[in-house]
Amino acid sequence: MTLFAPFTLRGVELPNRVVVSPMSQYRAGRGFANDWHLVHLGRFALGGAGLVFCEATAVEARGRRTHGDLGLWRDEQIDGLARVARFLAAEGAVPGIQLAHAGRKASERRPWHGETPVVAEDIALRGEAPWTAIGPSPLPYAEGWPAPAEMTPADIAEVVAAFRDAARRALAAGFKVVEVYAAHGFLIHQFYSPIANRREDAYGGDYEGRIRLGLEIAEAIRSVWPEALPLIFRLSATDWLDGGWELEDTIAFARRLKDRGVDVIDCSSGGIGGKERPRRMALSQGFQAPFAEAVRREAGIATMAVGFIWDPDAANAIVAHGQADLVALAREVLSDPNWTLRAAEALGRDEGFALWKPEFGWWLSRRDRLVRKLGLR
Ligand SMILES: Cc1cc2nc3c(=O)[nH]c(=O)nc-3n(C[C@H](O)[C@H](O)[C@H](O)COP(=O)(O)O)c2cc1C
Repeated sequence: MTLFAPFTLRGVELPNRVVVSPMSQYRAGRGFANDWHLVHLGRFALGGAGLVFCEATAVEARGRRTHGDLGLWRDEQIDGLARVARFLAAEGAVPGIQLAHAGRKASERRPWHGETPVVAEDIALRGEAPWTAIGPSPLPYAEGWPAPAEMTPADIAEVVAAFRDAARRALAAGFKVVEVYAAHGFLIHQFYSPIANRREDAYGGDYEGRIRLGLEIAEAIRSVWPEALPLIFRLSATDWLDGGWELEDTIAFARRLKDRGVDVIDCSSGGIGGKERPRRMALSQGFQAPFAEAVRREAGIATMAVGFIWDPDAANAIVAHGQADLVALAREVLSDPNWTLRAAEALGRDEGFALWKPEFGWWLSRRDRLVRKLGLR
């Protein structure tokens, strides 16, 4: 198997295994998609990626991470995203969307404004007021953060319903793949990690209690998301913390999610916060791919590898060695939206710019021939 072998997930065929990982742009206003999202994501479809994910999209307003997050908590928000999905599909990429709830990490400043909580002075600075975040337990994300309001059973039911309703809107917008953002310290991860969940009711305590919210969300989405369309969960495979969530927990959770109609586990890690410093991750290209490999082997479910992947050979090897079925890239495709097309060339899967859109490839192939003929390159 190679990076450029098609991959079928339920009734959806991906033309290759390259996935554009969700990347929040913090450019939405009141949750609405605009021209920025169309151009940002459209570039990746023109660049040949098989599956292009729209960024973390909030299922309710209080679940936004920042004021600039996209949202699908109102029917009015469908149209802007439908425009994006339509363009991606028309240009040959499968359009995907990530549904998200930030939980205790809500009401945060954009990365370039400090990644710290929004405070009253942001009203004067940017016209953006703080709001009260919710979470499994009243434990702040990190030092200097306010404690979230502990979610009541009614809050939990509302959030589950919000994921279901957002999935219904994603379907109406034309997306073919939904990924649930259950990683990086956002709400669902806050529930399954013992670091952030101190509840004593049915949604906390032991392992079974802590994974309950994720399972209920999978079921709720599956109740409206068609059989023929794939559902993906992004998990943090480990918290990198003693006493935290571990790879074995992820494998067991993956099996349970698979039973509820989840098709792929997207294996990331970290982000839960808390008082302890995480164990140092051994960073290297594809450092999280071993998590994808273990989940794929032990839970018998398709996986996606992500994180610190840029070299076409490295990406191809992840698929060829059976570590994962899909390879997601984020920062590298920001640097080069045509990464997939260049990878195809590097791996000998494209000659003469044949995979490129003719509006680009026709010119590039002719220039290439001329440059070669003249010995200029
Ligand atoms: C600009 C930016 C925004 C991101 N936003 C999201 C997001 O909305 N949802 C998500 O799951 N991960 C998000 N991430 C994480 C990426 O999806 C990816 O997991 C991470 O960057 C590691 O992959 P990379 O080394 O290829 O960049 C973001 C990363 C970047 C660089």
